[in-house]
Amino acid sequence: MATSDQRSALGRARAGANFALIKYWGKADALLNVPAVGSISITLDALYTDTQVELDSTLARDELWLDGKRRDEDVAKISACLDLLRARARVTTRARVTTANNFPTGAGLASSASGYAALVRAAEAALELDLTPRERSIVARQGSGSAARSIFGGFVEMHAGVAPDGSDSFAEPLLEANEWPLEVVIAVTAKGEKEVGSRSGMMRSATSSPYYAAWVAGQPADLAAARTAIRARDFAALAELAEHNCLKMHAAALSARPPLVYWNGATVECLHTVQRLRAQGCPVFFTIDAGPQVKAVCAPGARSQVAAALRAVPGVQELLTSALGPGAESK
Ligand code: DP6
Repeated sequence: MATSDQRSALGRARAGANFALIKYWGKADALLNVPAVGSISITLDALYTDTQVELDSTLARDELWLDGKRRDEDVAKISACLDLLRARARVTTRARVTTANNFPTGAGLASSASGYAALVRAAEAALELDLTPRERSIVARQGSGSAARSIFGGFVEMHAGVAPDGSDSFAEPLLEANEWPLEVVIAVTAKGEKEVGSRSGMMRSATSSPYYAAWVAGQPADLAAARTAIRARDFAALAELAEHNCLKMHAAALSARPPLVYWNGATVECLHTVQRLRAQGCPVFFTIDAGPQVKAVCAPGARSQVAAALRAVPGVQELLTSALGPGAESK
């Protein structure tokens, strides 16, 4: 374990983005970032964040470089996460964090999930810590709730937990990526950063949507049914559940005051296209997060048919495709 502040050390990591099939939307504790509901996600291999953490005793404060640009406005959040790990290592040295996403940042494509998961693994390496996967997930959660899931690959369940200190609020793997190799087509319908991020969006839903309490109350049943569908590799059951859960999350967002309409016209067209494909026998379902992009989850073999249909939707600017991938790894 590192004990001195007079050191410089480097850690590097890569983490895949994930998106939820059963969504996280709402917090039980904003300070510890404990979610109000559990969630189930898939981790992707083709969309990822690469992060380097360099401890540098000449720095007076942490420094963040994101996609080549210095981001002083985001340093406080990164520092809070690094502080949790520095405290464990009994080190106060500041760090230069250099991070890059290979996909559009902040447009509802889970950049905070892969970002904090990669940060935790890179900082752990730089600080010469040896955390358990559960400990990594708990630290990543405090950076961003969805990041707790990107610590693991394949199908992942996040437990909301009940402990006041957040010690039982962590993610765990359900199935490895190769145990049910689903594929994903993402229809990008708008580029650029979203107007209302997940954090303030979920707060607004919790404090002003008349549907929020029903959203939270329904989650345990959706989680149990999704767990069963995933273990049974029951695509039809998972498809119905994931779309239902996604639309419930958006109902809580749409009914907030002021309303949160994350969709554009192309988002809705993609949603109809996916439903039409499934009605014709193509094994695909959609999910949508706090942004206008549509994520189409395909059974093995359906990807090219789904991609061709989504490419033809007016307003779709770009398609990204991915298989399921591994959890965050240090490099
Ligand atoms: C709609 O993990 O970004 O993508 O914990 O405040 O950082 P914070 O929120 P974040 O929220 C993700 C919300 C979501 C659904 C999901 O990923 O489960």
